[in-house]
Amino acid sequence: MTTAWAPGRVNIIGDHTDHTGGWCLPAALGLGTTVTGEPGGDVVVLTSDAVPGAAVVPIDIEDPATVEPGWARYVAGVVAELRPAQGFTGTITSDLPIGAGLSSSASLQLAVALALGAGDDPLALARLGQRAEHRASGVPCGILDQLASAAGVAGHALLLDCTTLAVDPVPVPPAIELVVVPSGEQRTLVGSAYAERRAACEAAERLVGPLRHATDDDVAAITDPVLRRRARHVVTENRRVGLAVDALRAADGRRLGTLLVESHRSLAHDFEVSTPTLDALVARLLAVPGVHGARLTGAGFGGCVVAVTEPGTLAEGWVVRPSAGAHRVCAS
Ligand code: GLA
Repeated sequence: MTTAWAPGRVNIIGDHTDHTGGWCLPAALGLGTTVTGEPGGDVVVLTSDAVPGAAVVPIDIEDPATVEPGWARYVAGVVAELRPAQGFTGTITSDLPIGAGLSSSASLQLAVALALGAGDDPLALARLGQRAEHRASGVPCGILDQLASAAGVAGHALLLDCTTLAVDPVPVPPAIELVVVPSGEQRTLVGSAYAERRAACEAAERLVGPLRHATDDDVAAITDPVLRRRARHVVTENRRVGLAVDALRAADGRRLGTLLVESHRSLAHDFEVSTPTLDALVARLLAVPGVHGARLTGAGFGGCVVAVTEPGTLAEGWVVRPSAGAHRVCAS
């Protein structure tokens, strides 16, 4: 019996920065996906407690994007990338809400990869998961989700450098509580809008060079107003990640909260990935005494909000308990 587990993630700050090699500050969640079963045969067969149907994927699968049902493409993407020597029959269980912007797909991919015998080096695992996601969904995602799930450290946020792929764990102090609150809005348009935003960032980079190194003056020199706003989000968001790490290290919840509010504003106005529902949820949370700040987290267009609060402030959502990263629980 082989069992593997991989967490979802919440991104505390630093969204839409990974695909231009910038900075992010996620944490791996205590919630995740477990894959358990027996290796053997030449087909991977997995059923799930959360979604109907089964993933039935031959180990020599050619095109993961054609597999049905849709969720099985994530399994197929991993099989196509990993090329395991033998199949696997088992079950998937998850306590992570699906499609809520907490990286349920990255968590599934990494748990499947480990169950099928992938090595447990976090960086290699994250890269494998990212390639699997590209093949399965066609969405040109960055590496934030997979690296956060692979490299989680209990009690810590993770400063990710998406150019070097270095991971620097930053302790979350007891005076700061992070809470994930679902908006109830399923993410929509995320694939095409994500690709379009990423393309806009790349167009801006053709004008001013890597956004990671761009200055405010570089951004101001972009004449196209849409590209200028997209670039301004990325440049200011990268800066906010560094300031958020300083605030976490200083256990300064108010400062961290202010940065989250600025991040939400930037994602809403400059990057235009918020929705009226997300904006209303952020505004409602900010009105609660003890909430220092809140922002949409992840790709946007629905999903969850992350709030920074004094401990015990909110009676909704999930308190973030940063967890260890993806691992095999047992293999015999
Ligand atoms: C999605 C992608 C990530 C990242 C975020 C936005 O979660 O999968 O790579 O770009 O959106 O920060």
